[in-house]
Amino acid sequence: MTVRAGILGATGAVGQRLIQLLDPHPEFEIAAVTASESSVGKPYRTAAKWRIESQIPDDVAEMTVVETMPEAVPDDLDILFSSLPSSVGREVEPAFCEAGYVVSSNSSNHRTADDVPLTVPEVNASHIDLIEVQRDERGWDGALVKNPNCSTITMVPPLAALDDVFGLERVTVATLQAVSGAGYAGVSSMEIIDNAIPHIGGEESKMENESRKLLGEFDGAEVHWHDAQVEASCNRIPTLDGHLENVWADTEDDTTVEEATEAMEAYPSLGLYSSPEQLIHVFEEPDRPQPRLDRTREGGMTITTGGVQETDAGVQFNCLAHNTLRGAAGASLLNGELLSKQGYL
Ligand SMILES: NC(=O)c1ccc[n+]([C@@H]2O[C@H](COP(=O)([O-])OP(=O)(O)OC[C@H]3O[C@@H](n4cnc5c(N)ncnc54)[C@H](OP(=O)(O)O)[C@@H]3O)[C@@H](O)[C@H]2O)c1
Repeated sequence: MTVRAGILGATGAVGQRLIQLLDPHPEFEIAAVTASESSVGKPYRTAAKWRIESQIPDDVAEMTVVETMPEAVPDDLDILFSSLPSSVGREVEPAFCEAGYVVSSNSSNHRTADDVPLTVPEVNASHIDLIEVQRDERGWDGALVKNPNCSTITMVPPLAALDDVFGLERVTVATLQAVSGAGYAGVSSMEIIDNAIPHIGGEESKMENESRKLLGEFDGAEVHWHDAQVEASCNRIPTLDGHLENVWADTEDDTTVEEATEAMEAYPSLGLYSSPEQLIHVFEEPDRPQPRLDRTREGGMTITTGGVQETDAGVQFNCLAHNTLRGAAGASLLNGELLSKQGYL
């Protein structure tokens, strides 16, 4: 079966990555692209300032950008991938769900709502069935599924691996985040060149809350958030792509460098089309991972870690993921593949 997909916010940083990943995908076809009023009615080639390394696929380049509203997209779409600004998605995504569409979204709105699945398929695929609760409560034929914030996705799989074996008690994280994480209009060159900005609005609470929901238990009716304490401090640095993070994980049981490394390397991937063979790669070299060298491992879908050290309370390690691939477009696509596999499309 070919899954007909629309992209909401298709002209932006994440929208372009979605096109790059969906165009060659064997299961999905791009059937609609939407953006803001200033892009509506234009061919995609003109509306989007294409900024990624591959070419715009010819068929997408000629598509006309339509309005971001249910009446403007074809009725027969199986899924919509949303990369809308959160303020826009907050109103528009539920309207699509009410109109019967299944939406796999990157936007931060509704991520921590009780009846909205927040999933990283390799970590908490079972949470997807929260859709049943959502449909009961909201009376929707459609559904709203979220992937977490890009900095959260980077650290959660290694934390899940440690939690499974040693139990997590407390997490402290400091991030070094790339400029593409702020979208194309996000940070001006005058602000970021020769600089680092020790504040990213709202990012810290997203990491603190979303990670606990992802690591929580779904009992068929609700998600019980993990009770680990999570504290984050977020920084923007002048790399283009790839968020690097320094993580301190305090564990219930004692662990060693070898045991923590083994837990991360053995943490399984999934057999979905876009999941990497190895979900977490652990470097032995103490100066890896690095954004420029390691962000595109396995198509940008592998999370790399390194610098594992023992601390008094657990372990410290560094981790890296490509923020617009693993952390955004690839994350949404994986959720789409999971929705398809579980029969929700
Ligand atoms: N960048 C990342 O690494 C990353 C990672 C995880 C999650 N996210 C989230 O993903 C979303 C998109 O991020 P981005 O970096 O791709 O942003 P972006 O580059 O600013 O792109 C925003 C997209 O939304 C469209 N849009 C803006 N206002 C609209 C409106 N009023 N109605 C309809 N469409 C509108 C834009 O269309 P026009 O071109 O017509 O303006 C564009 O297609 C955000 O919610 C962000 O927080 C981003």
